[in-house]
Amino acid sequence: MSCVIAAETSSGVRRKEKKDVFEREDRIMKYRVNEECIGCGLCAGTCPEVFSMGADGVAVAIETDVPEEALDSAAEAKDGCPVGAIEEA
Ligand code: F3S
Repeated sequence: MSCVIAAETSSGVRRKEKKDVFEREDRIMKYRVNEECIGCGLCAGTCPEVFSMGADGVAVAIETDVPEEALDSAAEAKDGCPVGAIEEA
């Protein structure tokens, strides 16, 4: 979604800009690891901010929203899982 905002240029001329104010709305904010996990550890290596290995040898995802700075690496971890065990929560 976008909106139009007023902006002032360095010469003082006011103009309108279209900004994507809800850019994050489409981003995945949470993940979960399902029962297909084989414990390869790729996700924890790719995005340790979100994924870690549990005592039972399978991965777990943080229960809170993915931190902004980890959105790309978390998506990379999901895409890289060899068995597709990472789902959007
Ligand atoms: Fe498991 Fe896939 Fe991570 S197999 S350890 S969820 S990369």
